[in-house]
Amino acid sequence: MKTLHVDLGERSYPIYIGRGLLAQDLIRSHIKNKQVLIVTNETIAPLYLKKTQAMLAGFEHQTVILPDGEQYKNLETLNLIFDALLTHKMDRSVTLVALGGGVIGDMAGFAAASYQRGVNFIQIPTTLLSQVDSSVGGKTGVNHALGKNMIGAFHQPLCVIADTETLNTLEDKQLAAGIAEVIKYGLLGDKPFFEWLESNIEKLTNRDADALAYAIERSCRDKAEIVAADEKESGKRALLNLGHTFGHAIETASGYGQWLHGEAVAVGMLMAADLSLRSGFLSKDDMDKIVSLTKRAKLPTAPPKEMTQAQFIDLMLRDKKALNGVIRLVLLQSIGEAIISDNYDRTALNKTLESFLSVKE
Ligand code: NAD
Ligand code: GLY
Repeated sequence: MKTLHVDLGERSYPIYIGRGLLAQDLIRSHIKNKQVLIVTNETIAPLYLKKTQAMLAGFEHQTVILPDGEQYKNLETLNLIFDALLTHKMDRSVTLVALGGGVIGDMAGFAAASYQRGVNFIQIPTTLLSQVDSSVGGKTGVNHALGKNMIGAFHQPLCVIADTETLNTLEDKQLAAGIAEVIKYGLLGDKPFFEWLESNIEKLTNRDADALAYAIERSCRDKAEIVAADEKESGKRALLNLGHTFGHAIETASGYGQWLHGEAVAVGMLMAADLSLRSGFLSKDDMDKIVSLTKRAKLPTAPPKEMTQAQFIDLMLRDKKALNGVIRLVLLQSIGEAIISDNYDRTALNKTLESFLSVKE
């Protein structure tokens, strides 16, 4: 097992990464009181709920099982968590345990941030995407029909327990979606990691356990460093949104759940790279490397055909980074060097949208 630390003063916490962690006694020392509510969904419960309940033997634990899917990441489903907390008479000492992917983690985290003005929670991420990204850093929330992750709070967990064995039951498409966020770390600030991915991407798609463990650890290390430097995203943390302004537009336009978050981010990163190239920031050689790695990771490379330029612009203007009606984007100067900018060529943005929307996949 590897243990990393997110260094946030009195809100610091460990990230445990390893095989078979659900069979180990890691969680107990982090829970200071008796009451626990496990939040999971109907797909994950048959796979990992018993193990999680066994880890919590001795606590007064209850479970709420939510419907599965990004389309349920909303206020209505969130209310089911509050219903369970109140029905079971859970007080301010309760600890919520998020057992699942990013959807469960974001919702359980937001419920913890707001129940009785804030209670503790623990992340047990079970998808690659949640192990490398969403379980770390304390962003929690739900979607609104008009915009992705628009309602939420920063609320850090007490610890993150990433059992890499849970990835064995993940569908290939979900694994690839997680790899998109792994590639993101290489692109935004870790060129040696990008180069490692160029040499090892097939090991990841083929689920080589050591390669996956390395990629998870390296991604969490990169993210923990950025979060420690800028917890509430007043600067550097925005770089973690590489590809997300385009990607969130794709997810919102298609109807939540149609495109996986990681798939939309993969296309978004290509669009951001293309705009960086057209704006004279990124070299053609780097662009080719990014396209090649994305294809090898079995990720999509173009947005849905039905989308229009106007729809992209409208949705991108609602992005959380947009300021005073100007779309701010994370762009690439080279592989491993990202910037946040509103200083890109507007004609180039239109050309990027035009060219990606005319691709026939
Ligand atoms: P997800 O939570 O929808 O999980 C993907 C699918 O895999 C679901 O059907 C789920 O039930 C299933 N699943 C989960 N674990 C499984 C397992 N071990 N075996 C079999 N099936 C399993 O999607 P995700 O990709 O994990 O997360 C995407 C969400 O995370 C998005 O809502 C995105 O906005 C959010 N996100 C948040 C942050 C953050 O910082 N908070 C960062 C990135 C993404
Ligand atoms: N996934 C973006 C962030 O955590 O800031």
